Amino acid sequence: MFKNAYYRSYQSVFDVGMRLMSWRRPEVVSGSGSIGKIPELLNREQVKNVMVVTGPSVGKKLAPKILAALDDAGIRYVLFAEVESNPTVNTVNKIQELYLSNNCEGFIALGGGSPMDAAKGAAARVVRPNVKVGQMAGLMKVWKKIPPFIAVPTTAGTGSETTIAAIITDSDTHHKYAIMDPHLIPKYAVLDPDLTAGLPPKVTATTGMDALTHAVEAYTNCAYNTDETIRAAEEAVVEIFRYLERAYRDGSDMEARTQMLIASFKAGFAFTHACVGNVHAIAHTLGGLYNTPHGLANAVILPIVMEDYGEAVYEKLAHLAELTGVKDSGNTEEKAKAFIAEIRAMNKRMEIPTGFDFIKEEDIPQMITWALAETNPFYPVPVIYDRRRCEKVIRRIISEA
Ligand SMILES: [Fe+2]
Repeated sequence: MFKNAYYRSYQSVFDVGMRLMSWRRPEVVSGSGSIGKIPELLNREQVKNVMVVTGPSVGKKLAPKILAALDDAGIRYVLFAEVESNPTVNTVNKIQELYLSNNCEGFIALGGGSPMDAAKGAAARVVRPNVKVGQMAGLMKVWKKIPPFIAVPTTAGTGSETTIAAIITDSDTHHKYAIMDPHLIPKYAVLDPDLTAGLPPKVTATTGMDALTHAVEAYTNCAYNTDETIRAAEEAVVEIFRYLERAYRDGSDMEARTQMLIASFKAGFAFTHACVGNVHAIAHTLGGLYNTPHGLANAVILPIVMEDYGEAVYEKLAHLAELTGVKDSGNTEEKAKAFIAEIRAMNKRMEIPTGFDFIKEEDIPQMITWALAETNPFYPVPVIYDRRRCEKVIRRIISEA
């Protein structure tokens, strides 16, 4: 009880602080073929030698297009194409070393959340060379301008192209944590739907559900929201309900791809102000311990946590049910439950499982410790979890498999 009161007063203080802070926004360059504008952006920033950070598969399929554009523009580059999913501290350090030894002057991060997060971590280390990655975990520990940073998402989900966060996993302990600092907001976000056209349906589904989780968690949080973040979250939810399954069924539906990139960006904007919550905190433990893809973990956990919150979120979820057209008759509870049921139905239609059977009994205490440490006291979640309630949710994730 005392703890909860402390967390809420901590959040009230932060609520005021967040409103006083000046939030930079990335400049958005969007539309089919927009990656062609990257050299122009680099010239504007006077970057003549850029570090391109990506993962192995995107590195093979999509990086050559950007590298060719850089060649044509006479911009030198160094390519690091080894970012794994759930990027580690070791990877961040490798990128930083490569950046420094090649005298790079800026970053292009190409991919899903992992390359963007790894590049953000490296950018933070470039300006804070004496601070270890783990020491920057938490809030405002970078506090220094990073080099020019262009984020180019190849999935519509992470929102990292607009957020203050970089999610990194400790190479030894598998603890996955967030570095959160407004300086990590990229300077530019290049939203080119052509890059997402070749995504496999499964990745489209899970990354899209990650975006939905960002919007719903931010929206249901009880502090830090502004009129603008509320509107962004609502629009993101409506657009994801309308376009995600279209993009899942037909990857070449460019209208759906474009709208999903925009929705993901809006959801990212919402949660970078209003935070995520217990869904993400638990999902991060699965990413760290079992390498579970982030979007998949969120997709499974989102309806379970929303059900667990119960009446604390009925009103907001009922409003989302109305906006999305899921249910506009009945009482608040009925509408909220219909909204959660629709999330489950979307998961089912996109062949996303209902639970996970791989969680090991002996890992549960560690998962609870990490999840609570991520959430409290900073995330203004609608229901503050203690160990017992967090365990109950984890056991539901297992029993629903
Ligand atoms: Fe996420």
